[in-house]
Amino acid sequence: MRKLNHALLASALALACASCTAEKEANYQVIPLPQEVSLTQGNPFKLNENVLIAYPENNALLQRNAEFLSEYIQQATNYAPKTKAIAAGEQVKNAIVLGLDPGIANKEGYVLTTTPEGISINGQTENGVFYGIQTLRKSIPAGAKGATVLIPAGEIKDEPRFSYRGMHLDVGRHFFPKEFIKKYIDLLALHNMNTFHWHLTEDQGWRIEIKKYPKLTEIGSQRSRTVIGRNTQEYDNTPYGGFYTQEEAKEIVKYAQERYITIIPEVDLPGHMLAALAAYPEMGCTGGPYEVCPRWGVFEDVLCIGNDKTMQFLEDVMSEIIEIFPSEYVHIGGDEAPRTRWEKCPKCQARIKAEGLKADKKHTAEDRLQSYCMTRIEKFLNSKGRRIIGWDEILEGDVAPNATVMSWRGASGGIEAAQMGHDVIMTPNTYCYFDYYQTADTKDEPLGIGGYVPIEKVYSLDPTFDLNEEQKKHIIGAQANLWTEYITTTEHVEYMVLPRMAALAEVQWTQPEKKDFKDFTKRLARLMKFYQRDGFNYAKHVFDLKVDFTPDVAKKAVVVTLSTIDDAPIYYT
Ligand code: ACM
Ligand code: ZN
Repeated sequence: MRKLNHALLASALALACASCTAEKEANYQVIPLPQEVSLTQGNPFKLNENVLIAYPENNALLQRNAEFLSEYIQQATNYAPKTKAIAAGEQVKNAIVLGLDPGIANKEGYVLTTTPEGISINGQTENGVFYGIQTLRKSIPAGAKGATVLIPAGEIKDEPRFSYRGMHLDVGRHFFPKEFIKKYIDLLALHNMNTFHWHLTEDQGWRIEIKKYPKLTEIGSQRSRTVIGRNTQEYDNTPYGGFYTQEEAKEIVKYAQERYITIIPEVDLPGHMLAALAAYPEMGCTGGPYEVCPRWGVFEDVLCIGNDKTMQFLEDVMSEIIEIFPSEYVHIGGDEAPRTRWEKCPKCQARIKAEGLKADKKHTAEDRLQSYCMTRIEKFLNSKGRRIIGWDEILEGDVAPNATVMSWRGASGGIEAAQMGHDVIMTPNTYCYFDYYQTADTKDEPLGIGGYVPIEKVYSLDPTFDLNEEQKKHIIGAQANLWTEYITTTEHVEYMVLPRMAALAEVQWTQPEKKDFKDFTKRLARLMKFYQRDGFNYAKHVFDLKVDFTPDVAKKAVVVTLSTIDDAPIYYT
């Protein structure tokens, strides 16, 4: 034991000493791993406070990118390189030069070239340049205070595997303030993600201001109490609430846009609507009364599809949503909508009759009523130039014709949808539900919803499964979801997504033949220093030291196993 402690101390001292040298080395082995890295034997580029970051004059996006790079370098080194606009053809020395190159095939692709004289980062678009900047930023050690950073000479040619690289956050069950949403978006950018799926409405809270229906937030954003633990019979009797004004949401949209992240808003319908029903009970089949829901689960009270006022309400809400969110896609939910109220509701039954909705062997007339609702909202949004995403339940009945399907109940819904020719985003709960526990040993974990999705499992996802080449093209990407029934604080949000987001980033970006979990964990150790430096709360299970110190009598040693990062036992004699 004593000897082991000495060994650990010695390595800690070695690390501490490394940080007092004035030079640090950059390393392109980042997360997500670039597709092609070729190093030359030339001298490295020396990054120090005299280096300039240059961008083409009159390109405001590349100017913003240059400012981001300067900020990122400052976070690591304490010095912020100056940015400078340059004319076409103008040469700058000792600089990182940003530019566009229409010869780069992928819209988000980039080429980063380093010589002893300078670095160039080119993209087909400014988006691609931004990802080159992310790679450069992550290759610089997180803590290089005051140091000259030696950036290896060579070339990186990189592009993402998938065009849709998302993270979701449920702000319905628990509300997270605007400033935290921005931090979450910063995390997406760090992981080369380009889509934030913002789940804005739930049974337990309506979180976005809708001017035509003020009671949605006056009443629907507040619940009077919350169940204690996992749906016990006890409540905390403490009011809870919060919402984003349209101005705040627009501010967040802009913040995300600057980081090349599209926000897809979700208004989940026709189920998960108790908060809206508490505000406007006439839109439910029974007329209420309803309560902004204090419990977790799936509830029978859903929107009344037979009521024309409800359909008008949905169109009015969507009209305001698309004014706030310029995304091509709007997510309209469609999950977990029980049919029980519709079966008994005269208005819903009249709609079924009037629309000629019929049961068949696979689907009830009420299943078709849900499809009717989704299709109506899809047509409305299509008429405004938008497209819809729905959870995989929209496959039950007649699928809204142009819908993109988000597969969550495993991958089978997504596989089926791709075979039918729909675009698909894979978010299978078996790989991508970050509200599930990340360790099997849950006794020291904060209370969670259950499940088990360790980081290795996330990493192992191949979103195209064994689809054929044609069907694979319909898998546009992958996303992880964070449902927040049991996640009440921003620190807990961070703990659930970090570092599993890093594994997801590599699923989304890197070609499968380049993925290697063990290699990933080595690169993860470096990325975690960024999490640490930037004050994020992250889980460390992947690097847990198993302190069982098994005596090995034959070797006169204790065996210490460093789990996951290195399977080989380390012997201390
Ligand atoms: C879901 O998890 N209900 C989409
Ligand atoms: Zn009804």
